[in-house]
Amino acid sequence: METWRKQPAATRRLPSLEGCCCRFRVQRHWQWQQMIEEPLGVHAFCNQSGLPRFHAIFCPEPGEEEFLGCFETPEAAASAWDARAREAEWPVANFPQDEEESQTLLLDKFTIYRSRGFPYPPSDTAWRQEQLKGLLKVNLTELWRSEEQVDYENSADDLCWSFHPHGFEVSKTRHVSKAGPVLKPSALETFESNAGLMKSLRTCVERCGDPSCSPKTVREECRFHDDSMVFQGGGSWIANFPALVAAALFRRFAPGGVVYDPCAGWGGRLLGARLGGVKKYIACEPSAQTFDGLQEFAQLLAPLDVELHPCGSEDLDLTEQVDMAFTSPPYFNTEWYSDEQTQSHIRFPTVEKWRAGFLQPTLSKMAAAVRPGGHLLLSVTKRRSHRRAGLDLEADVQQMVSELGLVQEPTLRMQRAGSADARPIYVWRKRKT
Ligand SMILES: C[S@@+](CC[C@H](N)C(=O)[O-])C[C@H]1O[C@@H](n2cnc3c(N)ncnc32)[C@H](O)[C@@H]1O
Repeated sequence: METWRKQPAATRRLPSLEGCCCRFRVQRHWQWQQMIEEPLGVHAFCNQSGLPRFHAIFCPEPGEEEFLGCFETPEAAASAWDARAREAEWPVANFPQDEEESQTLLLDKFTIYRSRGFPYPPSDTAWRQEQLKGLLKVNLTELWRSEEQVDYENSADDLCWSFHPHGFEVSKTRHVSKAGPVLKPSALETFESNAGLMKSLRTCVERCGDPSCSPKTVREECRFHDDSMVFQGGGSWIANFPALVAAALFRRFAPGGVVYDPCAGWGGRLLGARLGGVKKYIACEPSAQTFDGLQEFAQLLAPLDVELHPCGSEDLDLTEQVDMAFTSPPYFNTEWYSDEQTQSHIRFPTVEKWRAGFLQPTLSKMAAAVRPGGHLLLSVTKRRSHRRAGLDLEADVQQMVSELGLVQEPTLRMQRAGSADARPIYVWRKRKT
């Protein structure tokens, strides 16, 4: 697809701009009018000598900024941004070239979304059944790039969110101050702020190549952005484990078997169990709202036998032996699913307490539930904020599970097509004797 972006018309506004040309990070905040008028990724400045300068900033992932350079002309900055967008295979396209037309388009979409409200995924039974029918046709074998690499495939996310509209109200932790956690705005809060909605609409067009600003793209962009006047992601991108990947894993490690998921979350692994041909899915989920959503989801997934427990996984001793235990646990306090006392990071509020009170017992109960010869799988990734707080989830889970006597097998990688970002899935086998 052809990559194109509107050339910035920033020069005429320069006399009113403040700030200086900094080397790595743009400090200037946008004004409301600039949000509407200026294209994504190019920021205009006066440097200390009063000369106009243009930074190209690319945001490959929520909260991440890549500084592409400081340029003398807006065109040069825009073309650096274009080149980077092409390299990342962003389908940037079709923004009206006429400035007035593009502003009208954004303002029209803004008015429509303001009057309609947040674009939740559909929740009617016919739509859900249709989605499931389509997903059941996916060839899971084709997701495996190699023995150890599986494609990150998240096209089933909407069906999961359809049962969990409250997921759009969940916030990620920005940082933890002495007074407590400082949270990022949820997708709903970003949508409700004018800056957040306008940024999301703009990136629907410029980043995602969707000039129609479809409900799906708008809600994804509201998860990406925060509600500030800066174009840098920073929103609450709440992850759902991709159901098709879960299905490929279940098909490989427990075809027709019984599986246990101690932290069910948004239902990616529940749906994966149905798609991967599992006979019975057992899970814990302590959040009352999420538990209700999963119960409703389970009704769609017959003939899958579903057994859900409304409690923390640190408290559940399964009596049934399972072929595979698999989860992606909460990453301590990274995401604030609810304020209930049963949430692992609320019940165990320090890293040390959480490790000893939640992580260790959850892993040992998973290991105890697996039959001899069965498998235990975990999807965890590193986070910079955790390392600062003394938590290295990847190292911790590897040490804990190995100490439980399970044999570690080659780590699998879940990789987005065309991206260098590969997430590990750790695998262990329980000895037969
Ligand atoms: C599955 S985890 C992490 C998200 C992950 N990226 C995913 O979807 O696979 C999220 C879930 O863990 C749940 N949770 C929180 N505390 C828990 C606990 N003590 N035991 C089990 N699950 C818990 C939360 O309510 C939330 O729904």
